[in-house]
Amino acid sequence: MGDAVSIQKYSYTYADESMGLDDVSLNIPSGQKVTLIGANGSGKSTLLLAMGGFIKGTGKITIDGIESNSKNLKRIRSTIGSVLQNPDEQLFMPTLFEDVAFGPRNMGLPFDEVHTITHQVIDRAGLNGMESKAPHHLSAGQKRSAAIATILSMSPKIITMDEPDTSLDPASRKSLVKLLESLSQTLIIATCNMDFAARVSDRCILIGKGKVVADGPPREILTNRQLMEQNGLETARFDQGN
Ligand SMILES: Nc1ncnc2c1ncn2[C@@H]1O[C@H](COP(=O)(O)OP(=O)(O)OP(=O)(O)O)[C@@H](O)[C@H]1O
Ligand SMILES: [Mg+2]
Repeated sequence: MGDAVSIQKYSYTYADESMGLDDVSLNIPSGQKVTLIGANGSGKSTLLLAMGGFIKGTGKITIDGIESNSKNLKRIRSTIGSVLQNPDEQLFMPTLFEDVAFGPRNMGLPFDEVHTITHQVIDRAGLNGMESKAPHHLSAGQKRSAAIATILSMSPKIITMDEPDTSLDPASRKSLVKLLESLSQTLIIATCNMDFAARVSDRCILIGKGKVVADGPPREILTNRQLMEQNGLETARFDQGN
């Protein structure tokens, strides 16, 4: 299988000249579950936005063999689904059901299929019974699950999630871990929670000041006290069920 994501010499500077990413190169094989870790402001979200085709910097990004450029944007967006850091940017329909159904409907799936998928995904996201609720009336944790559901309903080959564990209580976090384990897609997850990273990924990429600082097996990266502390993070525990 080829690479799900290939990034070569990619840099991005924001309009106010803040450094977003600085000469990043990395490859993610299909099916891998990767966490992006790094301190606040290190560039995790910027990297996910670049992968999703939301920003355009210098260098080259290829998603499932498709080069990311304005001409291919539609294909890129249907291949990689991005769960954004702020769920309010993702939820805009009058009800949860409508929000989760939006993607599959847009893909032109038949009515019955849209209905079935939407109910299944809402159930998987632990939001059963909330179908008719207005997304802005959901709790913070529920909004986060809802944002994930709006992407899952489209079954993209590659899914990115920006801090999906934020605002989740321990039971909801456990359900999220289970959900992530059950997904066969390539997953790229930004998180500041090292125990969560230890649970859900088979590779950790540490970002610092817009650069890849370390890249390797979670056990190696997340237990390296010096590396973690130098980058404003803490070590993870691997000994218990987190
Ligand atoms: N819209 C923007 N305009 C200007 N600068 C920005 C913008 N978004 C992010 N930045 C800057 O780019 C850098 C990387 O930010 P980014 O959001 O990628 O960090 P992050 O690792 O996701 O942090 P966090 O853990 O807080 O979410 C930071 O210095 C930030 O201030
Ligand atoms: Mg971020």
